[in-house]
Amino acid sequence: MIIHILTSNEGKFREISKMLQPLDHEVIKEDIPYPEVQAESLKTVVEHGIEWILENDMRPWMKAPDHGFVIDDSGLFIKALKGFPGVYSKYVFFTIGNTGILRLLEEKKDREAVFRTSLMFHTDGRNHYFEGLCRAHIAYQERGRHGFGYDPVFIPIGSELTFAEMDTAQKNTFSHRGKAMESFLEFLISMATNEG
Ligand code: IMP
Repeated sequence: MIIHILTSNEGKFREISKMLQPLDHEVIKEDIPYPEVQAESLKTVVEHGIEWILENDMRPWMKAPDHGFVIDDSGLFIKALKGFPGVYSKYVFFTIGNTGILRLLEEKKDREAVFRTSLMFHTDGRNHYFEGLCRAHIAYQERGRHGFGYDPVFIPIGSELTFAEMDTAQKNTFSHRGKAMESFLEFLISMATNEG
């Protein structure tokens, strides 16, 4: 099948397409912007995203057989900041960035955090939902040059490296998006088995 990944984020596309590589699908990046509603859950954000796209920016292939599209919304939840930035992660990264997050955590010994991904796949007129999470500690300073967003300050449990010190394959083995993608891959495999 042809899987369209709706994102303008090159890093997200790299991670998602890397995980889809072993399966025999064509993967295409699509820059189709949609409004991110200010909601309490990431799941609501992706649900509204898909609804909005189908109503306002439908492309012919979205209804074609053997095509599907994916949208992903992620958020960083920091325990010492009572879950902030959470659903505001995009805006917070854009405004205060990693420097601002490190400043908010100055003097804080509790560095626990979790990254969550909500991923929705739309095919054949239906939505299929997957999620993943990754527990971590926030570093004391930015480290590494790979990845994007909060990667330089995010040290997943089980590693001493930040995501920005890992390559894509390594990050995928730990990450929230990697976990959501594992469930999505299982779904794609079971879909193919049922069809065959
Ligand atoms: P989005 O709304 O899913 O695009 O992501 C919210 C914010 O979190 C954006 O600033 C992204 O750059 C950041 N972000 C999303 N996924 C990741 C990730 O895997 N690592 C680090 N930052 C991320």
